[in-house]
Amino acid sequence: MSHRSTVILGTGSYAPKRVLTNEDLSRMVDTSDEWIRARSGIRERRIAAAEEATSDLAFHAAQRALKDAGVAASEIDLVVVATVTPDYPMPSTACILQHKLGIPTTAACFDLNAACSGFIYGLDTACALLASGRYKKALLIGAEKLSCIVDWSDRGTCLLFGDGAGAAVIGVSDRPGVGLIGTRLGALGEDTDLLLVPGGGSRAPATADSFKKGDHFIKMKGKEVFKLAVRVMEEAARDILEQHHLDAHQIGLVIPHQANLRIIDAIAKYLELPIERFFVNVDRYGNTSSASIPIALDEARQAGRIRRGDVTLLVAFGAGLTYGSALIRW
Ligand code: UT7
Repeated sequence: MSHRSTVILGTGSYAPKRVLTNEDLSRMVDTSDEWIRARSGIRERRIAAAEEATSDLAFHAAQRALKDAGVAASEIDLVVVATVTPDYPMPSTACILQHKLGIPTTAACFDLNAACSGFIYGLDTACALLASGRYKKALLIGAEKLSCIVDWSDRGTCLLFGDGAGAAVIGVSDRPGVGLIGTRLGALGEDTDLLLVPGGGSRAPATADSFKKGDHFIKMKGKEVFKLAVRVMEEAARDILEQHHLDAHQIGLVIPHQANLRIIDAIAKYLELPIERFFVNVDRYGNTSSASIPIALDEARQAGRIRRGDVTLLVAFGAGLTYGSALIRW
């Protein structure tokens, strides 16, 4: 079999129009712009319209990625949507999106839930399936409408989250040495209780009472998540660099999950890289979970911060607690 590199052929992103500023939040809960900026680096986030579901956000991002790649929807034979806020518990958002985009009915379509690590989990999955030779072109999307599972009366969580979508079209190349170099995925399943939506699943199906208690909203132990996030992202970054005999200084750009600027700062210090080597847009979007890395990746490419031959490091963590890192050569 000839060498198969899996390469990102194009990217796209979409953020809903409505901007919710820290100022706006301070009129909803007891907080301030100053506190939010100091503790998280976030200035504003985007909120989807009531009639916009996750597949609608995904649709715009996917169309842009297809255009950027110069690939027609008819060529896609694999659709993976990473999300924790699907349109419905079933069917998958990937099937809804397939139909909206006019992707052939012979394409495999499924959702993947790895929370904020979803795009890296999806990248690993899509690239492995492409490398197997069973699929030719994949559409990978991270899309979230987190605003519908955020408790807007909980000041300890509502400052962080926002809505958005990012997409990548992935294909195969016989040019060796380009594309996905490797991934490092993992999960700390013993820490599921630090960040979860307790109600609405099979453990505690939705009832009038659970709804009243707000069990359908995100519950987060922020401080604990923060500490683990720094630790696992550092490990995931270090492991993948070691595995591929790369030094942090050889990385052109790090695209970290955008959860909190202080977490990104901590990773930068650990890798002994200047913060300028990191792509940061958490100030404008907050944490968009699985959409965070693909939005940042698309914006980084558009801003000319990724050049041919560069190596990019993606690194994320999220509910699960999942974590993941990936190295890509362009
Ligand atoms: O993708 C994974 C998603 N999750 C994360 O990445 C979360 C990681 N965690 C964080 O980003 C931070 O924990 C937060 C930004 C959420 C909170 O920052 P913190 O520095 O960990 O604050 P804290 O929760 O320890 O709270 C410190 C104080 C408390 O007051 P007392 O008990 O010291 O009097 C809180 O009640 O700040 C208070 N506080 C707030 N004050 C103003 C908590 N939230 C707010 C708020 N505005 N929004």
